[in-house]
Amino acid sequence: MYSIIRDSVPMEYDNDENTWRRPSSAKVERSACHQIPRRSTTVAVVVLGLAVLSCLLGYCVLSETLPYESKTLRLVIIIFRHGARTPVNTYNSDPYKNYQWPDGLGGLTNVGKLQLYELGKKYRSYYANFIPEEYCEKDVFVRSSDKSRCMMSAYTFLAGLYPPSERQMWHPDIPWQPIPVHSLPKSLDNIVASTKPCKVWQAMYDETLAERNADPKYVELFDYLSKHTNQSMRSILPIDFLYSTLMCEQEAGLKLPEWTKTVFPGKMRTPFMESLAALAYNETMQRFYSGPLLKEIKQYFDAASEHESLDRSLLVYSGHDVTLVSLWRALGRAELLEPEYGASLVLELHEDVEQEAFFVKTFFRNNTKVEVPMELKLPFCDDPCTYSQFSTHIAKIIPDDWEAECGNTDK
Ligand SMILES: *[C@@H]1O[C@H](CO)[C@@H](O)[C@H](O)[C@H]1NC(C)=O
Ligand SMILES: *[C@@H]1O[C@H](CO)[C@@H](O)[C@H](O)[C@H]1NC(C)=O
Ligand SMILES: *[C@@H]1O[C@H](CO)[C@@H](O)[C@H](O)[C@H]1NC(C)=O
Repeated sequence: MYSIIRDSVPMEYDNDENTWRRPSSAKVERSACHQIPRRSTTVAVVVLGLAVLSCLLGYCVLSETLPYESKTLRLVIIIFRHGARTPVNTYNSDPYKNYQWPDGLGGLTNVGKLQLYELGKKYRSYYANFIPEEYCEKDVFVRSSDKSRCMMSAYTFLAGLYPPSERQMWHPDIPWQPIPVHSLPKSLDNIVASTKPCKVWQAMYDETLAERNADPKYVELFDYLSKHTNQSMRSILPIDFLYSTLMCEQEAGLKLPEWTKTVFPGKMRTPFMESLAALAYNETMQRFYSGPLLKEIKQYFDAASEHESLDRSLLVYSGHDVTLVSLWRALGRAELLEPEYGASLVLELHEDVEQEAFFVKTFFRNNTKVEVPMELKLPFCDDPCTYSQFSTHIAKIIPDDWEAECGNTDK
């Protein structure tokens, strides 16, 4: 509704203010950036009022318009998987080996772009009381895996999260504003994509894979898939790739070969999820794989809980299915997980002023359509989970010196 109203009145350039505005509109007060994020009840009342009003107008999607009301919220960390993509690779007998994917291999599709845009909008309304309406550099930090589909997902997420305010409109036809997304190159990224080489972890991962692959329950499936794909499928890792490829082809409306019917997704799902889980199988491996991300998260939480001047109140990470699965495991969850496109995990830091204590809440959204997030109870924490319990557990999974523990510094 907002954009329709916006579009119906032509904008003019205001040379004094260096911005586009509608001729009728009052001058916008300068820089909401310097204000403390609003957490007042008046905002909640206004938003609730708007929700009721939109109901009367027939736009009643209450769960979507009702924001998450919390005066105790201090810091929010959102970690999501990129949106729908094309296959990353093919297999020997793939009838679609030479299929021309318009978005290239491993590319974010339009469906994927829209998913993350919708997710950004969902979080905007969910945290309407907490995330300031105007984008301001000091409020938010966004870090992405360097993979194009993750960077692009981060950008469309931000388009949904931070539509430009009137003051921030810099072009009359483009209701979008640039927001920086930071990333480390693949060979240096041990935070989001966890692709930076780590010798000790690699040896543990190889060992874990070998153990999983030796499970007799897989013998029949390995034989069947090797025969039909015309390539070696004697490990859960190639099954993981095959599973993802078949999933993408199916979503693109391509008819899968007959032989897939008895195994996909069905029998292939568990080895697929085990392959994702193998990267951070136990606590030692989580130290290497998710430790640097947890370290960054802990630094922000520590600063907030020590009342240091907080320069960010929102952190966003754009990653992969394995980013979510590894973090899920590091948070003590043992269930195997298949994160959908745009699935997201949220960590919230709350302050109970009366008790003078900080608490952590964790939520998971299976996909970008979820209206009510699933609260995750952390097995190492009471309920509510105090920050001191949380940080004691997290500290165990954070390496003191990642490079040294990885054996990367050995001569
Ligand atoms: C299987 O692979 C071999 C070599 O890679 C190839 O010569 C053969 O044509 C393939 N068979 C099928 C059914 O794709
Ligand atoms: C985790 O798994 C690796 C590989 O199997 C193993 O070397 C390591 O000792 C395990 N750590 C724990 C805490 O079980
Ligand atoms: C997410 O999916 C799991 C099963 O995979 C289900 O138990 C859970 O209720 C779902 N949560 C939400 C928030 O949809």
